[in-house]
Formats: sequence, structure tokens, C-alpha cells
Amino acid sequence: MTDNTARQLDHDLPDLESYWMPFTGNRYFKEHPRLISRAEGMYCYTTEGQKLLDAVAGLWCCNAGHCNPKIVEAIKTQAETLDYSMAFQLGHPKAFELANRLTDMAPERIDYAFFVNSGSEAVDTALKMALAYHRTRGEAARTRFIGREKGYHGVGFGGISVGGISPNRKMFGAMLPGVDHLPHTHSIAHNAYSRGLPQWGAHLADELENIVALHDASTIAAVIVEPIAGSAGVILPPEGYLKRLREICDKHGILLIFDEVICGFGRTGDSFGAARFGVTPDLMTLAKGLTSGTVPMGAVLASKDIYDTFMTGPDGVIEFFHGYTYSGHPLAAAAGCATLDVYQGEGLFERARSMEGRFEDALHSLKGEPNVIDVRNFGLIGAVELEGIEGQPTARAMSIFRDCFDNGVIIRTTGDTLAFSPPLIISDAEIDTVIETVRTALRAQ
Ligand SMILES: Cc1ncc(COP(=O)(O)O)c(C=O)c1O
Repeated sequence: MTDNTARQLDHDLPDLESYWMPFTGNRYFKEHPRLISRAEGMYCYTTEGQKLLDAVAGLWCCNAGHCNPKIVEAIKTQAETLDYSMAFQLGHPKAFELANRLTDMAPERIDYAFFVNSGSEAVDTALKMALAYHRTRGEAARTRFIGREKGYHGVGFGGISVGGISPNRKMFGAMLPGVDHLPHTHSIAHNAYSRGLPQWGAHLADELENIVALHDASTIAAVIVEPIAGSAGVILPPEGYLKRLREICDKHGILLIFDEVICGFGRTGDSFGAARFGVTPDLMTLAKGLTSGTVPMGAVLASKDIYDTFMTGPDGVIEFFHGYTYSGHPLAAAAGCATLDVYQGEGLFERARSMEGRFEDALHSLKGEPNVIDVRNFGLIGAVELEGIEGQPTARAMSIFRDCFDNGVIIRTTGDTLAFSPPLIISDAEIDTVIETVRTALRAQ
């Protein structure tokens, strides 16, 4: 697209009023719109033709970069061949192919995939699986869930109940009953400027023993955590923490759910956080990178033990009364298969692993810049935490976001933390561009 055509588009902007935008300051946005009309590889382009380096992979999802031709082609072909087929009591080959490929990639014992349309649906599905699993085994009293402070598990009622981000919860009443929360593991006092997993904090997993003692194990269905908490500002699991959670869950017959919606598909330098951290949960929730953000899709991967527990009634009966019209949608399944082809064919998980040292050094070079109080990273995920402006939480980070955008780089903010999760195809030079743009913005404050 030439600059002229791009400017032309500007004149054709639709009326912005009717769209009630998600997680957005609607009035501010509509006064100061930023519209993306095209994307390719590492870059997005605004309706005015501005070129932007995408340091967030869309919203932690376009891990293969934007508009990868192989994924685009697979979606086109699928749309021409089979648009939709009934998701209940009928199937289509691509959904089975994708389930097989995902479970092949997953850790040992994780042998089944249930398809949904988003991370939020994946979380609520996993929670329902956990309840129904215990009930089927004759432990119907196991109805409690344990989430974690600062956890993000989407916006369904299950997800916000186990989630731990206050603004996402406080407007919505009582939510699921019987939920408790582990303490979060973020501590600048102990772990500031950690490179990779922080050394301090594994003992915070032991708080699960206290929670179990309080409620009794016989009432607890599952613990759900993100291996690395993304949305609350990239909070890393201390060395040994996840393993300890696994041990305590095993001891008390509690299921462990890893919400891998962000950590999956190369973000940690491996297929899943579970693989990178060497801890296998009973259920894993996936979305985002599953289709590299191209078509909405999520999944729950389940252990053989969980699946087998459901497969006990008479033949022909429905074993799990749950599913969506668009579970395993043909376009999403085709996009998922092509995305896995790209990840595997182009060695993108290995590439992410090989880039992490470079990424880490670049991020940590921001130590000492104005208002920076912490830098943390793992795989191709990183955060720079800022001292907030007195009485104006989030304002400093938002101002850096706007400055970076105006200077050609998209970053993400959460609270007063800047978050980075670039497509796994990012080059050394592009890492430098991101960091130098942020540095300039910090110095301009
Ligand atoms: C860990 C985690 N779980 C669930 C979700 C919700 O996913 P979605 O927005 O696709 O519903 C997200 C989204 O950012 C997430 O980061």
C-alpha cells in the first residue's frame, strides 16, 4: 500500500461511536483514535499509513508474526472447502488432526484436547471439567477452586472468580462461591532485576498447605495458576515454586490447572510453560498462540486419567454436557494446524529460546533509566516496572505507551508496568529498536 492510499483510508474512517470497545477507555479512544488497518510480519500499519513495530504480538498472540502466508493460505482454502459443520454429534477431519498434534506436543499423560473459542472459555471449561471429574469419581464435595492474587484467567464468571485482579472483579458481585487465593509471588524487595526465574519465593507455594488446612482437602477441586502471570505485569514463578504446588496438589488429590493462554506456543522458549518448567499439570488451558491470533480459538488439554474418568457411562450417552457451537470450528482448526506447521517448520520455539539472552540483556539495559524500578524477563516475555506518578496510577506507563506508539513501536502497559511479548520472529535489530524507543520515551518524561 502506498502512503497515498493509506491517507485515503483516513478519510474513509467509520463513525466510531457505536462500538463499545473492550478493556478500553472508550471516550478517550474515540477522541484520540488509533486504528490498525493492515499487518505483516513484525509490523502493523495504521489507517494513516504509520508503520509500527509490534512488540506485543497483537495481544500476546501473534507468535508467528502477522499474516504469515502459510496460515493465511490454509484459512482461505478451508473457507472455500468447509465453512462450518455441526459441532455436536458430527465432526470434521481438521479438528481431529489438530487435537492429535496438540496432544503430541503436550507433556506425557496430557492426551486429550477439548476445543473452545477463547482463553476465557478455556478457563471456564477447565473449571467445569474439574468439578465434573471429582463428582464422577464420587467426590462431589470437591467444589472449591484456589486461584492466585494477581492471576488473570479471562472474563467469564469462573475466570474472574479464580482471577486476582481487583478491577476485573469488583463490579460483578459474588461470583463463584468457595474460591480462595494463594498469595502472588511479585516482590521487588526480594527479586528486583531478576534475570530468568527469581530465586526468592518458592516458599509462597506452601501457603497452599494452609489453605488446604483451612478448608479441608475434601472440599477442594483444583488449583489454577498461570505458569508466568502475564496480564498483571509479567510475574515470574520463583525457582521451585511450580514443582512445590504440584507436590502439594498430589498429596491432597487436588487437580492442578496451568493457564497457558500466554505461556503456550513458544513464549517461554518451549512448547508450553509446563515443558519449560518441567511440571506437568492435569489440565492446561490454551488460546492466543494456538492460531497465532488469526482466528479465535482456545483449547483445554486434559490428562488421560481425567478423560477416562468421564468415559464410564453406557455407550452412546453424552459424557460431558458442555461445548460451544464453534468448538473446533473448521477455520480455526485449519489455522491451528497451519500455525503448528509454521512453528515446527521454522523452528520458532527454538528460535525464541535462542533469542532470550539477547532479549534479556536489551531489557536489562533499561536499568537506571528514569523511574525504572524493576526489569524482569523469561523466554520472550519481559516487563519494565515504573515508579507511578503520585496520585495518578497507570498514568506514567500510559504516557510511555503513547510516546512509543508515536515513535513507531507498540508496547503493552498494565498498571505502571510496560510489558513485552514480541512475535517469535523478532530480529536482534528489532529488539534494539524496541528498547531504544522505550529508553527515549523514559528520558523524555
Ligand atoms: C492467562 C490468560 N488466561 C485467559 C485469558 C483470556 O483469554 P481471552 O481474552 O481469549 O478470553 C488471557 C487473556 O489475556 C490470559 O492471559
